[in-house]
Amino acid sequence: TKPTSITIQGQTYPTDDWTNVTPSIQNLTSRSLHLNDNHPIGILRNLIEDRFEGLGYTFYNDFKPVVSTYENFDSLGFPSDHPGRAKTDTYYLNETTLLRTHTSAHEKECFEMCPTEGYFISADVYRKDEIDRTHYPVFHQMEGGRIWSREKYGDDLLTKIQSDIEAIPKTDLIVEDAHPAFDVLKNPKQDFMTDKETELVSQHLKKTIELLVFKVFEEAKISAKLAGSTEPYLNEPLRVRWSPDYFPWTAPSWEIEVWWKGTWLECCGCGVVREQVLTNSGVKDSIGWAFGIGLDRIAMLLFGIPDIRLFWTLDQRFAEQFQKGKISTFKPYSKYPGTVRDIAFWVPSVEEKVHMNEIMEVVRGVAGDLVESVKLIDEFTHPKSGRNSQCYRINYQSMDRNLTNEEVNELQEQIRDLVKSEFNVELR
Ligand code: PHE
Repeated sequence: TKPTSITIQGQTYPTDDWTNVTPSIQNLTSRSLHLNDNHPIGILRNLIEDRFEGLGYTFYNDFKPVVSTYENFDSLGFPSDHPGRAKTDTYYLNETTLLRTHTSAHEKECFEMCPTEGYFISADVYRKDEIDRTHYPVFHQMEGGRIWSREKYGDDLLTKIQSDIEAIPKTDLIVEDAHPAFDVLKNPKQDFMTDKETELVSQHLKKTIELLVFKVFEEAKISAKLAGSTEPYLNEPLRVRWSPDYFPWTAPSWEIEVWWKGTWLECCGCGVVREQVLTNSGVKDSIGWAFGIGLDRIAMLLFGIPDIRLFWTLDQRFAEQFQKGKISTFKPYSKYPGTVRDIAFWVPSVEEKVHMNEIMEVVRGVAGDLVESVKLIDEFTHPKSGRNSQCYRINYQSMDRNLTNEEVNELQEQIRDLVKSEFNVELR
């Protein structure tokens, strides 16, 4: 049974067929980890903001998590059938309001009201997702944006951007050739900009992001050395590469990847802002860029945090390890054993489908942070009846204490009951 309305941060929203925000997600909307100066997410945010202080940016950190479907998707040019809009991917309060899935939802208002040419936004964002050690339904992004007005600079526009590029502090990272597999046709330059404008805006964007990742990863090396590590990568220059990418609201677009401990990490999507976004923001005759970077994965690397759930724990043994302005390596306070339980079922008919994220959501609703991971370990379709069977393996494991068999059995029982009643499946 659904409530008739949901209240988040003092605002009340009527529910409808689209409503799928659960009480456990609702509770997380008031945590604001990014505003806590003594929390890894807040420490990382401060580290980046400090690097960009004085370079012409306004920092916005208090945007509320509830936005309109228009702000999150339409204003950015998402097609109406984009998978990100699905109820299985996004938390809706109702048909027209949702928990933002990315900080780009605020691009429009920032371009509209920002007193400086550039801005940074940091905020919590929400996506239905799998349950494992690197995924959590809430994570954090930092968005950056910058524009130049053609009207204001007139004939001096290109000189102005050029001098802004030169003003960006230099870094000594190595930029490698791009990842080759990409269809350039999907990533065109826009007609409303000249080749030279596109080139300079792109250069400014890339240099800015290079400065950001350089700062963050050099800091990670320094703290690893301080912690006594002598691994060879700590003395090698940082390597990055730019791969073309696609976003509905930027063109051309890229992703920066950073070589870190033997793999290319996808770090940050970005691009030259599409004309329609600027027009929707009431910004006339301007050109600019935007980027968005995820903070949680980077904070996990920097602080040596093995499980993303730790960010959300209220255990003092976690909190007391981190202080403002310091990157320290997390010392696990103890490990508690996990307990595995499987749940398997037949989906009622060929037409009906059960989406994996829906199962994740039920598990999350019942057991919350007592679950370390949920894996689909077996799925098959009966050759004659065409019926679909799925089996999920749930690992129950608390970050903070031992779980008893009885409580795990109880949770498992509740999950079985709910899966059966919500999806009308036949449990096996
Ligand atoms: N919002 C995008 C994401 O969540 C990142 C992005 C921001 C890309 C701004 C381009 C410009 O993946």
